[in-house]
Amino acid sequence: MNIILMGPPGAGKGTQAANLVKEYGCAHISTGDIFRKALKEQTKYGVIAKYFIQFGHLVPDDYTIAMVREHLKENEFPNGFILDGFPRTIIQARELESIAKEFKFQIDAVLNLDVDFDKLTKRLSGRRTCRECGATFHDEFNPPKQVSVCDACGGELYQRPDESEEAVKVRLDTYTKQTRPLIDYYTMKGEITNINGDQSMEEVFNEIKKSLEGK
Ligand code: AP5
Ligand code: MG
Ligand code: ZN
Repeated sequence: MNIILMGPPGAGKGTQAANLVKEYGCAHISTGDIFRKALKEQTKYGVIAKYFIQFGHLVPDDYTIAMVREHLKENEFPNGFILDGFPRTIIQARELESIAKEFKFQIDAVLNLDVDFDKLTKRLSGRRTCRECGATFHDEFNPPKQVSVCDACGGELYQRPDESEEAVKVRLDTYTKQTRPLIDYYTMKGEITNINGDQSMEEVFNEIKKSLEGK
């Protein structure tokens, strides 16, 4: 099963993608995570992406599409994949359609996590991410057993540089202008399922599982 997981910054895309990986064994493709890894390893995509990510802007379509294309070409997905954070513009959505034709796969579900904007800032400011495995926690909503230590691998937990108040503002604004129009795009194609992301993590996941029944 191949899934697109959409939603504003902090909506819970990464959290729910991790649940889907456990449940269905599919691969998690997060463009944000791939960019951050590239940044750490100083590869070409990392060097390009750094400036855009730190200020909360989207990385230009050309680079993002090329990177996703490369990732889909170079890896195998026997149990399908979840695209977390891609597409994020109409151009990316159209390109994904042509990549799907070329590589002969289909998208089985487009899930949109719907969360009020005023909740997102709190989710982002309290998030802690593992430096080693990328698992995410939250000071209040999902605290790790030991402060600053990842439950899954013992790695150090940190706050992402794009979690500053300024960067979050830009990310939310960027989402409204460039990514939210995709909801209409997929709604017109009759392909979207809206999920109420403003519930507990378990409830959100149950709603997602229900929506995927029979797919
Ligand atoms: P990316 O890493 O994708 O960031 P994002 O979209 O801003 O989303 P986040 O990862 O911040 O949030 P999330 O929805 O995954 O929420 P999470 O599960 O962590 O992208 C970063 C940057 O890379 C972009 O700004 C851009 O520059 C670039 N980029 C990436 N893709 C691109 C593309 N396609 N094109 C161009 N540029 C691109 O949850 C957040 C917190 O809330 C956690 O602490 C979690 O524990 C908590 N939480 C989760 N669910 C719940 C719940 N139900 N109740 C309470 N708390 C919850
Ligand atoms: Mg994420
Ligand atoms: Zn970890």
